[in-house]
Amino acid sequence: MGTAKVEHRCTECGTTSPRWLGRCPSCGAWSTLVEACAPSRAASGTALLPTSTVVPISAIDLEGWGARSTGMAELDRVLGGGLVPGSVTLVGGEPGIGKSTLLLQVLAAMAGAGARALLVTAEESASQVGLRARRLRISAPSLHLVADASLPSVLAHVSTGRPDVVVIDSIQTLFDPELGAPPGSVTQVRECAQRLVAAAKDHGVSVVLVGHVTKEGSLAGPRVLEHVVDTVLSFEGDRHHALRLVRAVKHRFGSTDELGLFEMTETGLVGVPDPSGLFLGDRRPGVPGSVVAPIMEGHRPLLVEVQALVSPSTLAQPRRSAQGLDHGRLALVLAVLGARLGHRGFAAADVHASAVGGVRVVEPGVDLAVALALVSSVTGHALPADLVACGEVGLGGELRVGVHAQQRRAARRRGCIPRRRVSVVTRDQRSHAAMSASGPRVSS
Ligand code: TYD
Ligand code: MG
Repeated sequence: MGTAKVEHRCTECGTTSPRWLGRCPSCGAWSTLVEACAPSRAASGTALLPTSTVVPISAIDLEGWGARSTGMAELDRVLGGGLVPGSVTLVGGEPGIGKSTLLLQVLAAMAGAGARALLVTAEESASQVGLRARRLRISAPSLHLVADASLPSVLAHVSTGRPDVVVIDSIQTLFDPELGAPPGSVTQVRECAQRLVAAAKDHGVSVVLVGHVTKEGSLAGPRVLEHVVDTVLSFEGDRHHALRLVRAVKHRFGSTDELGLFEMTETGLVGVPDPSGLFLGDRRPGVPGSVVAPIMEGHRPLLVEVQALVSPSTLAQPRRSAQGLDHGRLALVLAVLGARLGHRGFAAADVHASAVGGVRVVEPGVDLAVALALVSSVTGHALPADLVACGEVGLGGELRVGVHAQQRRAARRRGCIPRRRVSVVTRDQRSHAAMSASGPRVSS
């Protein structure tokens, strides 16, 4: 038999070192290395006996292991049906975005459909959750709540209460007192998640972990959780707008293509099944610098208004602001307009560009809309209210068609675009024709 060896483990990032160091060589944290026992290895030559059984894959009993609906169609769309028993789903999002609200609604809906649902609140008190439930008019008798932050106690509740679905709010506040590391440290977050994964598999319970995302966009505990869990959902939105988006970053049981849309209302989150025209309600026609772009989110096209404002700058280095749009792509479009089309009006001007409504557009297909809005603003020519533009701008000044042109056209038909005109650029067309110096015109 091998003997247990002492090593030193960082309580922040989990890195191990054979000797004690004042500073962790991996994450750079000071005084975080603590003694830990390295796992012993069986001496070579020892006969190994399996503790598990090999079975034919066709003989696996799948009865009762189908996904359970969350009761919220937009979330089911992202999950490919619902929560799989025995799985662990991590819901990440910035503080205040609505994670606790979403999951309380999910538990209430699942409890209403007959599931035994348990909410573990490790962050808020029971009365705070009770107040939220009252605001959301939730009164499902089979929805239970426990205010507890201790992992062993939570695991005991799971094994004795045998719930079908458990929400832990949040994984960063849950801790195992035996680990010695502070709550929220990587060691705690990872250990707690690993033991919850094991408990989920043992009892066939669907576990949902709430994880706070830092301002930089990473889940606290550098990505350790993403490897441990089955599904990672990202809950996004702009706190100043009502729109909330749910997308799967990782999903062991289905695609990561779908997007769920919700609106935050006075009485919680309400699904938005048909988003065409969602962002066009406040649009003012006839204003230069505005155009509609059909962007693809998963398999669903969304019509988004792209706005630009170009104004004379008093700054040595003129301002470039992109809200809901990628800064890099705005810079690229400005460079192409200047270098390839000879638009000199941007050099000494402040440029503001935005995707309206709190949506974040990352696909390059929005380039043409950005270019048209910029040229429209700098020339003062308003674009036709029924114009929908989509295409990627290349460094040579060429336009490339985005994928899903059919769906984008269909979105225009279902949306609030009044007349029969849609300009989705179809092949590699030279943008010279599209954006002539006299003002923008787009041919399809
Ligand atoms: P919350 O679910 O507590 O966010 P998180 O758990 O991600 O930190 O939601 C916080 C915000 O949501 C808060 O600013 C109030 C708002 N809200 C509503 O607009 N309507 C509602 O019905 C509820 C419950 C919250
Ligand atoms: Mg919360």
